[in-house]
Amino acid sequence: MYSLSELEQLCRKCKKCRLWTTRKNVVFGEGAKNADIMFIGEGPGEQEDMLGRPFVGKAGKLLDKGIEALGLSRESIYIANIVKCRPPGNRVPEKDEADSCIEYLRWQVKLIDPKVIVLLGSTAGRNILGQDFRITRQRGTLFELGKFKIVPTYHPAAVLRDDMKKADFWSDLKLAIKIYEQIKNC
Ligand code: URA
Ligand code: SF4
Repeated sequence: MYSLSELEQLCRKCKKCRLWTTRKNVVFGEGAKNADIMFIGEGPGEQEDMLGRPFVGKAGKLLDKGIEALGLSRESIYIANIVKCRPPGNRVPEKDEADSCIEYLRWQVKLIDPKVIVLLGSTAGRNILGQDFRITRQRGTLFELGKFKIVPTYHPAAVLRDDMKKADFWSDLKLAIKIYEQIKNC
């Protein structure tokens, strides 16, 4: 079993899929090593690739607002992505790229062992809940995978593009916290 930092070292050298050829930095993920709440996005964008950190661009600012509105902080949660290297031009990761990378994410989830996982957007939903996952129909509902409670919601970038998604995004985040509090108080 790797430690989180050993896993990070492996990822930094990774050439398992073509995305390594165009990346500037591997975006491993960041936050509390024992976070109870974990957020999973799609993949690094331009800012993230430049800085090697997840959700630091415009979508990240919206996610930060959500995290703060819930009374949480970045330091108390963990944020990662389906792929750890930026797909060129921010395209959706190809199936084989996601399949190559998700093994790292699985290790990460095992090591961090969160109680609740929030999936941000359809790429995270499909790669974790199955290719039949449909964001508009299934966001805001609770999924259980083994011991993990999973709540999918819109990707913050989609919320930025469509104001109508904002209310659902907030209510999904609140649902995730409610579920977490129920578990905590058991
Ligand atoms: N979008 C994502 O899905 N992940 C990031 O880290 C940034 C933007
Ligand atoms: Fe490796 Fe993942 Fe980067 Fe592909 S995206 S090169 S699998 S770390």
